[in-house]
Amino acid sequence: MRIYLPLQIALLATVGLAVAAIGQSSPPAAQAERVRTDATPPERALTPCEEAILDNPCPSEEASRTLQRGLLERRETRRRLMELPPAQRPKPPDNGGMGWRLPDAEYWLRLPFGMGDIPGDWSSLPGVRFVNTQVDGVRDVRLCIRGDYDLWLLTDPLHEVTACIGVHRPSRRVWFVEIARTASGTWMPKRAKDPCYACHPSGPRIIRPLAKNGVDPATLAQLNRRMLSYGACGFGDSVDPATRGPARDDARCTGCHDGVDRGRLYAIHDRIAMFKTEREATMPPGD
Ligand code: HEC
Ligand code: HEC
Repeated sequence: MRIYLPLQIALLATVGLAVAAIGQSSPPAAQAERVRTDATPPERALTPCEEAILDNPCPSEEASRTLQRGLLERRETRRRLMELPPAQRPKPPDNGGMGWRLPDAEYWLRLPFGMGDIPGDWSSLPGVRFVNTQVDGVRDVRLCIRGDYDLWLLTDPLHEVTACIGVHRPSRRVWFVEIARTASGTWMPKRAKDPCYACHPSGPRIIRPLAKNGVDPATLAQLNRRMLSYGACGFGDSVDPATRGPARDDARCTGCHDGVDRGRLYAIHDRIAMFKTEREATMPPGD
């Protein structure tokens, strides 16, 4: 696999933490012109199960009601917490970074795309807005194609997260980075609080809105199709076997989560597996 080492690397040291601002050469206007949407998609054909998910991305009505109740409870808890004086509000959990084998600063330096490849203005990129059903909040997911790379861009204002997942289409190798804007409007990597792999065992996660209302079905299907077409993305040697834990060998799952169609599931994925089987009730498919 080819890895383009970022050409312009500026290392800024902030409180013992190295922040890499990579490849910020092109001004936003020039970046917008480089956005292409016609690059060839990956070649893997979808399985019948995946085609069925595209036709029907929403959870069942029963699961949607449970999820909706969960969201209302979360909102009520948040409202009560906001009534407390700021010093008494519990701090959001901080797992201290992305949890890869390498410290985040080193992982950032190995990103094969530069921060300058992430466009400044996302407004003209294809995307969807929807409510996240696990942690709540209106989110926006967009796609920017840069040569061999699909850059998936996420904005989640409620959790103050802006992030990018880059998939190298020919090899299906995946990279993750949370980002923040610099004063000059370019992007730089930002320290993350959660291990990405814990919720992204296969790479990008498809979008399953609570209800079809308000989400353009054609755009949703187009983006979900592209994400599913990667199958299980590769993480190279990024994943730390110690934090990943032992493999889960549930026979109801391993037929698809085999490391080819979908990522294999490990102990680190138990929480999200529980969400998919019990609350969203979309796994195993057709159950
Ligand atoms: C608690 C689970 C969870 C964690 C932890 C998590 N994600 Fe996600 N992420 C999701 C889900 C679920 C989606 C799909 C959209 C949705 O439903 O909100 C998503 C979507 C995304 C997207 C948009 C493309 C896509 O996959 O749909 C990006 C970019 C992203 N996440 C980046 C990250 C990065 C970077 C990290 C680690 C710093 C991370 N995520 C950690 C659950 C998580
Ligand atoms: C018939 C194939 C199939 C089987 C069997 C299956 N899955 Fe999946 N799984 C998928 C597909 C396709 C997706 C992507 C769509 C989605 O996120 O809902 C997925 C997504 C997931 C995800 C989100 C992370 C990812 O890979 O994108 C989790 C977690 C998950 N499945 C858990 C399970 C568990 C736990 C079981 C067994 C109880 C199971 N699955 C059985 C096909 C399957």
